[in-house]
Amino acid sequence: MADTEASDGLIRLQKVLAQAGLGSRRACEELIEQGRVEVDGHRVREQGLRVDPRTSVIRVDGERVPTAPDLLVLALNKPRGVLSTMSDERGRPCVGDIVADRTERLFHVGRLDADTEGLLLLTNDGELAQRLAHPSHGVLKTYVATVPGPVARDVGRRLREGVELDDGTVRVDSFSVVQALPGRALVELSLHEGRKHVVRRLLEAVGHPVESLVRTQVGPIRLGQQRPGRLRAITGPELRALYTSVGL
Ligand code: URA
Repeated sequence: MADTEASDGLIRLQKVLAQAGLGSRRACEELIEQGRVEVDGHRVREQGLRVDPRTSVIRVDGERVPTAPDLLVLALNKPRGVLSTMSDERGRPCVGDIVADRTERLFHVGRLDADTEGLLLLTNDGELAQRLAHPSHGVLKTYVATVPGPVARDVGRRLREGVELDDGTVRVDSFSVVQALPGRALVELSLHEGRKHVVRRLLEAVGHPVESLVRTQVGPIRLGQQRPGRLRAITGPELRALYTSVGL
């Protein structure tokens, strides 16, 4: 059978899987043979099924394989001093300036304070953006903060047990002192919360007001060595893990 795309937009499943980065077409045929591929909730075992990559929900070993051809997910290391908005009527530097040459209609996933640096996801998939930002999906986020030190031993326990803030109790999933420096400390904390200024408010409440704050991870996506102001396309296993993390 010819492998050119039909005018109805349907493409052979193994080609769609290969294009999504799951290996060669032969390797993708094997995934199908092994019964590891589902399309729209049905396990596929026969070769040559034609699917619409724009609309079909494809999973391999239960993990979502995003296949829409125009799908874009970008990881930005938002620099300090830049607003988490796509435009600013007062002309202040914003994330929209960094992606100004992109033609896709991008949404930012949640917000970071202007003073916070670090990982901000951008995507043209509105549903993905909404799910990642919605508290019901409880996506874990990790931050590294510089705070005045030393940090007392019981701070981690207090944060894990829950700290009362103006708008309710907040608990962290993990807290550790990464580095103790003269008069200050570098601490790392992970939490599912997305409330405004939550990390600054939490650390202030336990006596360690934030001097600088960086977000290093959102769900399965890590900032790594990415420099401030740089964008990185999320693809392959990272993209699949991101979709799967919010039940898509
Ligand atoms: N918590 C904060 O206090 N600021 C951020 O930018 C993100 C989380």
